[in-house]
Order: sequence, then structure tokens, then C-alpha cells
Amino acid sequence: MYFRKNSRNPLPSIGLGSIRLRGACYGFLAGCFLVFGAGKALENADYKKQARTVGVQAESLARELGRQAVAWMEPANSEKLQEALASIPIGSSALVVDFQGKVLARHGTFAEVKNLRRLSVTQSGHILGSARRHRLVEARYRMEGRLAPLGEIWVREPLQKPAWFGALVKTAVLSGLLLGFLAWGWLSFSMRGTRALQRSLARAGKEEFFLRAPLLGCGEMKALAQSINQAMSSLSDSATRVEHVYVETALALSRTVEAKDRYTSGHSQRVARHAVELGEALGLGTERLETLRLGGLLHDIGKVAVPDAVLTKPGALTDEEYEAMKRHPMAGDRILSAIPGLRDIADIARSHHEKWDGTGYPMGVAGDSIPLEGRIVCIADAYDALTTKRSYKSAMEVELALQILEKDAGTHFDPQLVALFVAGKRSGRGYKGVSSQADVDQRAA
Ligand SMILES: [Fe+2]
Repeated sequence: MYFRKNSRNPLPSIGLGSIRLRGACYGFLAGCFLVFGAGKALENADYKKQARTVGVQAESLARELGRQAVAWMEPANSEKLQEALASIPIGSSALVVDFQGKVLARHGTFAEVKNLRRLSVTQSGHILGSARRHRLVEARYRMEGRLAPLGEIWVREPLQKPAWFGALVKTAVLSGLLLGFLAWGWLSFSMRGTRALQRSLARAGKEEFFLRAPLLGCGEMKALAQSINQAMSSLSDSATRVEHVYVETALALSRTVEAKDRYTSGHSQRVARHAVELGEALGLGTERLETLRLGGLLHDIGKVAVPDAVLTKPGALTDEEYEAMKRHPMAGDRILSAIPGLRDIADIARSHHEKWDGTGYPMGVAGDSIPLEGRIVCIADAYDALTTKRSYKSAMEVELALQILEKDAGTHFDPQLVALFVAGKRSGRGYKGVSSQADVDQRAA
């Protein structure tokens, strides 16, 4: 896999922290509403229970007042009326209302308001309502017979607020905090695969499709991770196919360029073998060795941009022709860097003519600033050029070529790499890669 990091990151953060915070806030509010609502429901139930008992007492008192109503009909009845109402128990309130709705007399704290804010009617027909922030039960007694014009007697009894009601708000807040904390914990647990998914998608945004998300969290999260992993596999396969097609096309192009000159035919394959051999001696990993192999095969692909007359000229090049030839590393870089996954190989094509002392081309960089793979291919390229026959020279003996490499170590070549390369070749192991005159003639035929 050659796809490298792209500086763009098109995926915004999923923001798990804010989801947890929002969940905790909703949990807190839900907890408060639930406990407060339940408390109010219990309070109403308690009032209704009280109203059944207290309502009977109020009705009894209203009947008693009704029995005394005969005396109220006598002269100066307003005094009698007020006296009778004043005799009711402390805490109770009573009104006398005529048939037109006019209040004839009233007594008690809760008689100041004519009509209660009606909440409901009890099963006994008493009114459950509120006045002055108190719950009351009201019983009405209608006068009958000759007393009917007097209207009705209303008796009101206050209900007791439940003792626990004072702590309801505090209880609701504490319950809300507990529920908010539980919501935070539940969200953290059920969405614990989110970060892994985010990492996987972020890598995909950088054209790296190998990172698979673990199947964590709730069912929906697992299903999402599974779908993303399948998409990643599919994208990875597609990217690999595109990469292979591109590399094969580049190799075919490179072989076409080499075929123009019978003396350089097979040069890239030999350079690739020498370079991989040196990479193995260095202990490079499989992926970098594969990069090195492709870099060796494609290092001169930029020669496709060099005129054939220059490329196949048998004699020495003029200055102008040499300048044209020197453009092939940058041309190779442009061709190979068209696909992001081949960036390392493009670096090799660009840097294989750089020199250790900085006098090379096209950039003129020196030492470690030259990519390692570029320095390796540079040595392999020079070794193959020395040990093979060209139109302008014959093939050199291996030992003589190694001595030239040693002589130019520290100026043209990386001295440590040359030492390793030469030691390998002198040990007798590895690929010699020398093309004989017979090979050249055979290819030419
Ligand atoms: Fe080259």
C-alpha cells in the first residue's frame, strides 16, 4: 500500500463530549420534571383523600347553619345572621349567598374571596378549589321552602399541605442530578466506539483505508462500525486496483523508453535488483523494499520527456543536449506524483542524480537531505552503468567498478551505503547483474 497522508482532513469532530454533556443536561431536566410531576400528582391525591373527610364536616356545618336560618328571617336578621356565622369553628369559613348570587354575610379568612379557583368536584359533590394559596373543600347547602329566597350557605374548610411537600423541590433537583449522571454514564458506555469510528473515518479522509473500527457500544454503534469497515475494505480494494493499474502503466511506459536504446534495455530491472539487495543489507522492511524495487524500475521514467535524438545519441552529448537529459528526474517526479500513493517512488525518480556533496541535479541537495531510497538507487544506477556495455563504452570489470564507487564515496555517493554495497558484492553473494557483449548482441538481434 503506497497511499500516504493527505494534509486535508475533511471530517469535523463528532463531539462525543458535547453529546454526553447534552445527554446529562436532558437527564437532569427529565429527572427534575419526573420527580416534581410525581410529587404534584401525589399531593393532589392526598388533597382528594382529605377532601372526602373534610367535605363531610363542611356539609354537616352547612346543614347546622341552615337549621339556624329560621332565626335569621326575623327582624334585625343581619345581626342574627352574623352571630350565627361567627359561632362556627375557628379555621372554618362560611358565606350566605342569595339566589341572585349576592353575598349577604361572610365570616372567616377564606370567605373574603367569593368564588374559589375551582380544581375539581369530589365524589360527594363538594368543590375542591384554592384561594390565597391554600387548598379548600367547599360544601353548599341550599335553603328550601319559605327560606329558599335566602339562597345558599357555603362552608369552606382548609386542607392540610402534605408534610413531605416542602422537600419536593430539593428531592427533584437531587433526583435530576442522579439521572443526569446516569445519562452521562449510559451515553459513554453505549457510544464508546465513537472515537474509534472517528479515527477510522479520519484516516479514510487521508486515503488510508486499512484502519478498522472495533465493534463497541450499543447495537446501532456496532452496526455502524460494521458498515464502515465493509466500506473501508471496498475502498481499500479499489485503491489497490487503481494503484496496480497505474504502476503497470508506468512500468510499460518505462520499458518503452528503455527499448529505444538496445544498450540500456534491462537497465531498470538490474538497478531494481541491486537497490533491493542493498536495502535488504540495510534491514529495510518489506514495504520500503517494495518501494525501492518500484523506484529502481521507474527511476528513469522521466526520459519519456527527453527527445529520442538525445536519448539514443551514440556519442557525447552537447551542453544543450545534456541540459535536456538533466530534466528527466523532474519529469519523472511529475509523472509519478500524479497519484498520491506513489509519492515515495516519485521522490526516488527526482533524487537519483543528486550527489552526496550537493553538486548533483535537479535540486542540488546534499547528504541526508537526499531521500535514502534515492541514494540507494543512485549507487545501483551507477554500478549498472559501469558494469554494462553502452554505445559509447565497453562493460567494466566488477572489481574496477567497485573501486570507482569507493573512490567517489563521500563526494558522489553516501559513503556508508557504498561500503555496504561494495562489501556485499565482494563477498560473492548477491546479484552481479553484469551484461556481457553477447547479451547485448542477443538483445540487438
Ligand atoms: Fe537517470
